[in-house]
Amino acid sequence: MNPQHSSLEQRAKAPDAQLTALSTETDVSINDVKTSYRRWAGVYDAVFGAVLEDGRRKLLAHVNTLKPARLLEMGVGTGLLLPKYPSDTEVIGVDISDDMLALARQRIAKHNLSRTSVQLDDCEKLSFDTASFDCVVLPYILSVTPRPRALIDEAIRVCKPDGHIIIANHFSGSKTWAALEKIAAPVAAKIGFRSSFSYDEHIVQTPLKVVSLERANLLGLSKVVVSKPS
Ligand SMILES: C[S@@+](CC[C@H](N)C(=O)[O-])C[C@H]1O[C@@H](n2cnc3c(N)ncnc32)[C@H](O)[C@@H]1O
Repeated sequence: MNPQHSSLEQRAKAPDAQLTALSTETDVSINDVKTSYRRWAGVYDAVFGAVLEDGRRKLLAHVNTLKPARLLEMGVGTGLLLPKYPSDTEVIGVDISDDMLALARQRIAKHNLSRTSVQLDDCEKLSFDTASFDCVVLPYILSVTPRPRALIDEAIRVCKPDGHIIIANHFSGSKTWAALEKIAAPVAAKIGFRSSFSYDEHIVQTPLKVVSLERANLLGLSKVVVSKPS
């Protein structure tokens, strides 16, 4: 999640969560993520719908160009993107939060999405076969999951070698932004996300081959990364 894009007023309306800081790969568990999103689910669309929409829209533009036969959305949440994928694409959304998935299922029913389904699973260790998707998308999950590298490795495993992996996420920016992120860190820790998240560490130092990169969201604090699995 990238709540740094939400206003203080929105944060004040957020659930009274004393959540675990996501400052390292090891200090948060998948149960912490479930607890966090149990609290966020009811207000997620209101707080993080519009504010992160630019990144979703840019990610979606790539999907629409690629027109994949089979797509996996990791961390599908309440399913904000589900009605917008190409109608011919078979879409599977995975999330670890039952509460978020309940809202995604309501959206699937509301929009009568016959080629779309969602399921409960941990994206760091998926039950899908190797090379089973033409496209794997990661909208705003990478800096939330306990072990981002394990999640990237799993995206690479389930993506076909000639497929695409598309990531939308907040990444740490310039020195000025890095200073602001440090100031934001104590607040960020309380509401359960990593305020500083390195592009180098989480993208460059992985096997992903970046095809394109664009800025997104307020002040360009997020990036949309189109990549190949190797
Ligand atoms: C910030 S929300 C993003 C939701 C949606 N993709 C969007 O664009 O708004 C992050 C989601 O990732 C899920 N999540 C985090 N780590 C996960 C994991 N390891 N496996 C499955 N879901 C995970 C959370 O439960 C949450 O629903």
